[in-house]
Amino acid sequence: MSEHEQPISMRFRIYRWDPEGGAKPRMQDYTVDGLLPSMMLRDALLRIKAMDETLSFRHSCGEGVCGSDGVNINGRNGLACITPLKGLRQPVEVRPLPGMPVIRDLVVDMSRFFHHYRSVKPWLIHHDPMPEIELSQTPAQREKLDGLYECILCACCTTSCPSFWWNPDRFRGPAALLQAYRFLADNRDQATEERLNDLDGPYRLFRCHTIMNCADVCPKGLNPTAAIHNIKKLMAEQST
Ligand code: SF4
Ligand code: FES
Repeated sequence: MSEHEQPISMRFRIYRWDPEGGAKPRMQDYTVDGLLPSMMLRDALLRIKAMDETLSFRHSCGEGVCGSDGVNINGRNGLACITPLKGLRQPVEVRPLPGMPVIRDLVVDMSRFFHHYRSVKPWLIHHDPMPEIELSQTPAQREKLDGLYECILCACCTTSCPSFWWNPDRFRGPAALLQAYRFLADNRDQATEERLNDLDGPYRLFRCHTIMNCADVCPKGLNPTAAIHNIKKLMAEQST
């Protein structure tokens, strides 16, 4: 934080819903004084929570690492902890991630998201006997995982994807497909055929219509659309 920064006052409009109260969801307005432009949205949410302890939201690391504070900010998904207050249009509208069942306020049920993640078997499958020391990789083989392994499973991409909103049970979604390709691209994995067969069909992979919202919102700068394209290429190669 710069020592020259002047404290500012900002207006927020936050989605509120309490499943126990019986009332409909509503937007609640707050004004927070004493913020600094370099502060992040999470800092403002914590201030609001100090004023109104009934507000619920998830967060943990505060550094864009744990992926737990994905929310919709002025219509765009992002992580509250790395979204600077500076430049946000006011009142800053904060809603839960779209297309997910809301548990309370900004907290969504991530079960379906993690169901899709688990379904792509996000671990190495190696059928041959394991070597005594390690499964080694050349630097070039390791480099192929760059842009894939960094995903923090925040769900910002999947919940910004219209194909996922329309087919949340059948389309795996950008995050799970990025992970599927992370293992397809790994030279140590020996389950290419079964992974590709599992994604075949009209829904799990092919519901992607290259809308590209996923790559646009990913806070880690990853490109699930490119990963999906690469899976389709591998499928085409497999069938020739
Ligand atoms: Fe989040 Fe990006 Fe991973 Fe999607 S690909 S879950 S937006 S880190
Ligand atoms: Fe961990 Fe934002 S609080 S990513």
